[in-house]
Amino acid sequence: MARDFLQDHVALVTGASSGIGRATALLLAREGARLALVARREGLLREVAQEIERMGREALTLPADVTRQEEVERAVAQTVARWGRVDILAACAGAYVRAPVLQMTVADVERSMAVNFYGVLYAVQAVLPHMVGQRGGHIVLVSSADGKKGIPPDGPYVAAKFAVAGLGDILRQELRPYGIAVTTVFPGRVDTPMIAHLRVPWISAKIPPKAVARAILQALRRRTPEVILPLQVRLFVYVSALFPSLGDWFTRQFHLEGWEEAQTAQEVR
Ligand SMILES: NC(=O)c1ccc[n+]([C@@H]2O[C@H](COP(=O)([O-])OP(=O)(O)OC[C@H]3O[C@@H](n4cnc5c(N)ncnc54)[C@H](OP(=O)(O)O)[C@@H]3O)[C@@H](O)[C@H]2O)c1
Repeated sequence: MARDFLQDHVALVTGASSGIGRATALLLAREGARLALVARREGLLREVAQEIERMGREALTLPADVTRQEEVERAVAQTVARWGRVDILAACAGAYVRAPVLQMTVADVERSMAVNFYGVLYAVQAVLPHMVGQRGGHIVLVSSADGKKGIPPDGPYVAAKFAVAGLGDILRQELRPYGIAVTTVFPGRVDTPMIAHLRVPWISAKIPPKAVARAILQALRRRTPEVILPLQVRLFVYVSALFPSLGDWFTRQFHLEGWEEAQTAQEVR
């Protein structure tokens, strides 16, 4: 009988209660992995765990706030206590913190960094000793297209997502000798509760979270360093890298910031 791709692998997914993290956890379980599910909303994590158990796979619900290092460390320790290893980290937890630069406060940036950057860093640091000891593993960091090209008024979010991109770039190079692969994922607009309040132009239409999960699975198979999706976002990112002013023009022309239903620009999750 053919083995499932991730048979006997242990995957820890942050942000597993919703959206991209939830879709990724379910897909990795379908491929045979045992899942450690991390987020704050325990009830939603249990629902994901039940769905995984219905597939005949194992899941562990680990309620934790990723902005608290000790809670992230505890979640990783519980995973290793249960299964003895951690093969995959998918750091999906995040929050959309927007504010125009003239109104933005340091507190806005700190709030964004706390979840979008430090939440990722704590998870990476907690799994690394285990992956180094195993001499293998795969770390997936979910940044955003906003981590390649900033879209106003996303300053606080952009700062954190660029930081994640930089972290991924350095981790990939430094961890290579240890057999640890690193993939950074840069999705455009995704149809999740995070941006349910946001109408977007046709050119940056929302893709389903399952599409991101499938891209993550493919990156695990191929050990892809970076994934930018969908295709039109990849092209936009490449053009913006070569010609920043053209990227700015395109952003204005196509109203890429979208239209918020809420009056003021702020975090909506
Ligand atoms: N949606 C998009 O258009 C889009 C585009 C590019 C990148 N992304 C990125 O994709 C990732 C997933 O977002 P999504 O779109 O799937 O949004 P989502 O459906 O709102 O999911 C966000 C997840 O992050 C978790 N989370 C937030 N703050 C947390 C905290 N302090 N501690 C632990 N978990 C926390 C949430 O769980 P709890 O609330 O239960 O804690 C939830 O599971 C994020 O990093 C986001 O920045 C999203």
